Amino acid sequence: MSESGYLENPFTPTFGEVPPYLAGRSLALNELARAFSGTRRHPSLTTAITGARGSGKTALMAAAADEAEQRGWVAVRTAALPGMLEDILISARRKCSHLLLPERPARISGIELGQLVGVEWENPEQFTNWRHETTLLLDQLEQSDTGLLITVDEVQPTLPEMIHLAAVYQLLVTERRKIALLLAGLPHNILALEKDKRVSFMRRAQKQRLGRISDYEVRQAMIQTIEEGGRTATPEAIDLMVAATDGFPFMMQLVGFRTWDAQRATGTIDLPQAQEGIELARAEFLDSIVKTTYHSLSNGDRAYLAALLETEEPTNSAVAKQLGKTNSYALQYKNRLMSQGVLDEESNGHLRFSLPLMREYAEQQSR
Ligand SMILES: Nc1ncnc2c1ncn2[C@@H]1O[C@H](COP(=O)(O)OP(=O)(O)O)[C@@H](O)[C@H]1O
Ligand SMILES: [Mg+2]
Repeated sequence: MSESGYLENPFTPTFGEVPPYLAGRSLALNELARAFSGTRRHPSLTTAITGARGSGKTALMAAAADEAEQRGWVAVRTAALPGMLEDILISARRKCSHLLLPERPARISGIELGQLVGVEWENPEQFTNWRHETTLLLDQLEQSDTGLLITVDEVQPTLPEMIHLAAVYQLLVTERRKIALLLAGLPHNILALEKDKRVSFMRRAQKQRLGRISDYEVRQAMIQTIEEGGRTATPEAIDLMVAATDGFPFMMQLVGFRTWDAQRATGTIDLPQAQEGIELARAEFLDSIVKTTYHSLSNGDRAYLAALLETEEPTNSAVAKQLGKTNSYALQYKNRLMSQGVLDEESNGHLRFSLPLMREYAEQQSR
């Protein structure tokens, strides 16, 4: 209960904020947790998470880093920005010094780590590099069988430090170091990184493409978030909120948040409150995500979407026919739209819009 006497809103419609319940991520998290607990190297220790903006990449990566820390790894969280390599070393050292407290069973003493840090700061001109410094750190961590997880959010394939990090990481893996790398980014950025010849091993990284979350999972997370927050909702209200979420994490938080605030006074969320909240949430989602995404597309992309809306079967070949073009011409646009997080392809080859309301908006715009 907050000071004003209202129950605090438990929903988190903010980018990068980890929600109280992560809907539909238990498989992915279990897989990563297994990788962090294994004694042998698991392929998931190098994973790239991709998906549209708002699909929950940052939240999943943060939850995975928590799992790693619970299993005796040191997790260093960073984003692909200039200075990231130094940032990784500084954060890692800060976290490692904690490991070297006297009561810990680490064999390295705090003095030695202190000296290492001291040497570096006192003689800045002494020859060293990122690989060397990271290796020294890994040497120390090895004494207590501690692994080093690096998470990189908002992957930028054009950032030189990003390439450097990936290249050194590959060498450290070859040296059988206990190290893991989780990357998160928009599909086209991850794709571009994989295509970079200097870090071709990235192509073999595990992929977690965050698609639509099932209604069942959304419903569970919605109910749990509301109940933990101290309220309940009628089944009809929940049904409507789940349908409005359309399997998309950011939308789930927006719908929950606005509905919670619709009429704060009553304990049980009912249908009129859900309707009111959903209306606000949809308007916000349209403004913050759908419009910006749509207007960043090229004319060719938009023509593809317009054709897709006209086809009977939502497949690339049907779009090609509709456009009067070859399959391979259409394929380029399909790939572009998928890599921008606008379209997803189901296992039967059917294309669907990744974002709620995008279909309706594209319809309206192509009229
Ligand atoms: N699995 C999930 N279930 C419910 N809400 C989620 C989930 N993942 C993320 N969210 C929420 O969705 C919003 C977007 O998540 P975020 O991780 O920032 O997305 P991205 O990094 O892909 O842009 C945040 O408000 C977050 O709290
Ligand atoms: Mg993010």
